Amino acid sequence: MVIIPVVPFDCVVFGATGDLTLRKLLPALYLRFRDKQLPPEARIIGAARSDLTDESYRERAAAALRKHVRQSALDQDTLDRFLALVHYARGNAAEDEGLPTLTPLFENAADRVRVFYLATSPDLYGPICRNLARAGLVTPLSRVVLEKPIGHDLASAREVNDVVGEVFTEAQTFRIDHYLGKETVQNLLALRFANAVFERLWNADVIDHVQITVAETVGVEGRGDYYDHSGALRDMVQNHLLQLLCLLAMEPPLSLEAEGVRDEKLKVLRALKPIAPYEVGQVTVRGQYSHGAVDGKSVPGYLTDLGPDRTSRTETFVAVKAEIRSWRWANVPFYLRSGKRLPDKVSEIVVVFRAAPFTVFPPEAADLSPNKLIIRLQPEEGMKLELMTKDPGPGGLRLRPAELDISFEQAFQTQYPDAYERLLMDTVRGNATLFMRRDEVEAAWNWVEPIIDAWDGSPESPRLYPAGSWGPTSAIALIERDGRTWHEEIG
Ligand code: BG6
Repeated sequence: MVIIPVVPFDCVVFGATGDLTLRKLLPALYLRFRDKQLPPEARIIGAARSDLTDESYRERAAAALRKHVRQSALDQDTLDRFLALVHYARGNAAEDEGLPTLTPLFENAADRVRVFYLATSPDLYGPICRNLARAGLVTPLSRVVLEKPIGHDLASAREVNDVVGEVFTEAQTFRIDHYLGKETVQNLLALRFANAVFERLWNADVIDHVQITVAETVGVEGRGDYYDHSGALRDMVQNHLLQLLCLLAMEPPLSLEAEGVRDEKLKVLRALKPIAPYEVGQVTVRGQYSHGAVDGKSVPGYLTDLGPDRTSRTETFVAVKAEIRSWRWANVPFYLRSGKRLPDKVSEIVVVFRAAPFTVFPPEAADLSPNKLIIRLQPEEGMKLELMTKDPGPGGLRLRPAELDISFEQAFQTQYPDAYERLLMDTVRGNATLFMRRDEVEAAWNWVEPIIDAWDGSPESPRLYPAGSWGPTSAIALIERDGRTWHEEIG
């Protein structure tokens, strides 16, 4: 593995006692430190309202690292040296004059890269940015990192982007979509643009349709308050699934520089065929999980997960048929689906090629199934190409599908880094290729918003599906109406 250390930097994490920081950000920074990518002069400054000191925050950080970092990567000496980089600044960063404890930490540090990571509720983004500016903490080498959701719809996304934009330039603004930091998602770029064999086939002449599934077994996990205002369309499709669709569908970029890649993704988002209100019922499905069983364990329904006496029309499952208006993708549907409390945790892209135009094999040989390229993002990252082959042995020429199969873990014998490890290092380096530009976020809202409006205006509620099933049956009907089926593993 080639490790290129980053320059010395200061990273202030607002929301330092929150779940994201403790579960993802500190472990990611620890692992980069352990691999000697963080220089010993780096500083990680947790900022939050709780009454903590450097010492007591380090204790919390240590407990979080022990819980969330794999055992084989933890050792006391590395942990102690990492914790020495960690500091704490108490204050309410969203209030005027809320940063007095932070300001002194930056005296004599103006020439260092400064990362402000907003791991807070999005309504604090504006106030925090304004306060940083007021306190004189924003230098030319500063960057701000924003977690999703950026807004709740197009208008609120614009408002957030406007306020942040008053303080940070677009080049200084890093909007995270952690799916872009996943190794296999970056592998889509390698697959498409480092292998001539696929790029030549990557179009409507050869591809029949594409399926993107991001399925989770978990429910809302104590995040009910956030989730119930969001739902699967806003939480997953507006960002993660559309970003995957962009990487699959975009034209080859002029370069891997941030603007090259983001220009091409933006074109895809703008080429998405708008879904008219009268079509929403035909090309989208929304569901909500009810009581059921996942992994053999009985689990409650969504309303029970939310709390006593709750009602809700929020969807925990969504399926959408998307179409791209371009020469490359004319009449090639992209079927997207994502949901909570489904039978497996799996994120997968399936590119289904057109069927052979004619068969020389007798009908009893087999039905010719179309070739499929299956890109597994998680778990067990890898790629499979489903091909028709001869069934071995005597008995005439019979056919059956078989797979060319690469498991990345076996092929490369390596542990994949978490998405946040890569994204945090890219932020320090100022490389925004794997982050969303303002216009991308807004174009994604622009496509999603009519679906939300139609759902809000409809008297129907989401269809219930039992936890542990693949969503409402109407999601199966959505694709089967077009004579296609959701991909299932070859048994
Ligand atoms: C987050 C969503 O962005 O992605 C969560 O807010 C979801 O609801 C999570 O569980 C899924 O991420 P991953 O990396 O586990 O697939």
